[in-house]
Amino acid sequence: MSDFLYYCFMTDLPKPAQLIDRFGRTVDYLRISITDRCDFRCVYCMAEDMVFLPREQILSLEEIYILAKTFAELGVKKIRITGGEPLVRKGALELLQNIGRIESLDELVLTTNGSQLETMAAALKEAGVKRINISLDTLDADKFKAITRTGDLHQVIRGIQAAKSAGFKRLKINAVILKDRNHLEVASLVRFAVANGIDISFIEEMPLGVVSRHNRSEAYYASASIKADLARHFTLLQSLEKTGGPSNYFNVAGAETRVGFISPHSENFCSTCNRVRLTVEGRLLLCLGNEHSVDLKQVLRTHPGDSDALKQAIIDAMLIKPEKHEFNIHEQPVILRYMNMTGG
Ligand code: GTP
Ligand code: 5AD
Ligand code: SF4
Repeated sequence: MSDFLYYCFMTDLPKPAQLIDRFGRTVDYLRISITDRCDFRCVYCMAEDMVFLPREQILSLEEIYILAKTFAELGVKKIRITGGEPLVRKGALELLQNIGRIESLDELVLTTNGSQLETMAAALKEAGVKRINISLDTLDADKFKAITRTGDLHQVIRGIQAAKSAGFKRLKINAVILKDRNHLEVASLVRFAVANGIDISFIEEMPLGVVSRHNRSEAYYASASIKADLARHFTLLQSLEKTGGPSNYFNVAGAETRVGFISPHSENFCSTCNRVRLTVEGRLLLCLGNEHSVDLKQVLRTHPGDSDALKQAIIDAMLIKPEKHEFNIHEQPVILRYMNMTGG
């Protein structure tokens, strides 16, 4: 408990709303997946033939806004909009504008595949989006096509340039690294990040859903191997900066760029977890790597307009937030939902 909270507790001062789980972790970061659809089919994220949710099953934009506002009233300070690809949902911009106006939020941020940024970057800036993370696993157009199945590298690069021109600071690339697919690309990705004054995080693949193009155990490439590869080209200095996300950041000596490592397998970061996820079906997922969840859509629809009922359901949900994920890339995935359902 913080000193301030303890002070409120010991006096009659009203306590600020906070979501705290059984392990004393404060949840102040909500990731919202606003669609399960995507124009790409990345091999680590989706199966080749995906069936997407029917319209009746997904939250309306208005319901998503009500939920975002309610979480903000419960102490959430950072909201990340994700997907699927969030920018393919009709009305995404208007939703972002509305969430951007919630006063108590410190940060509204976005994770995207970059395919729509060329046309939307300026409007996103105007809507109040503070930072954008863009998925980019390789700078080789053929490998990019092989990994995303349907994506066009040049369109994404133009999207990154558009985001820079729109004035976004601290843009970040997210690269999922798979052995023998793109592990030889890590130095050129960092070079690209340095040349463009942006950050980059390397992510160890997580076993969410059954994928067909590769064996996740064989494709595992640990963050330590990436660090060793990079050390031959760059000097990386541990950074003390934190974004509230799971990346462990290093500064590239002589450059503005930070290189982050998201290492769910090799360096578990669950003890400092500060986040929960809302799926587009209205399911509040308490952990990326577990199925513990609460159906907030049902609460919303059975008690329309009753914000106390919704708040209580969210507060109660903290009691089932698991201590840590149980990922095991060497076994068949236990978590059958894919990342596009989950919110990255
Ligand atoms: P910043 O705010 O810029 O630090 O972003 P972030 O790293 O929180 O968000 P981003 O969308 O860039 O997340 C990158 C990836 O980290 C996600 O797509 C997930 O793959 C992974 N990630 C985020 N949160 C968790 C988590 O709670 N558990 C696990 N295992 N992975 C996570
Ligand atoms: N493991 C790790 N990261 C993944 N992403 C998608 N699927 C997986 C997975 N199975 C990443 C994408 C994107 C973010 C939304 O999630 O690369 O950066
Ligand atoms: Fe789409 Fe992102 Fe999944 Fe790729 S990782 S298929 S871009 S949601």
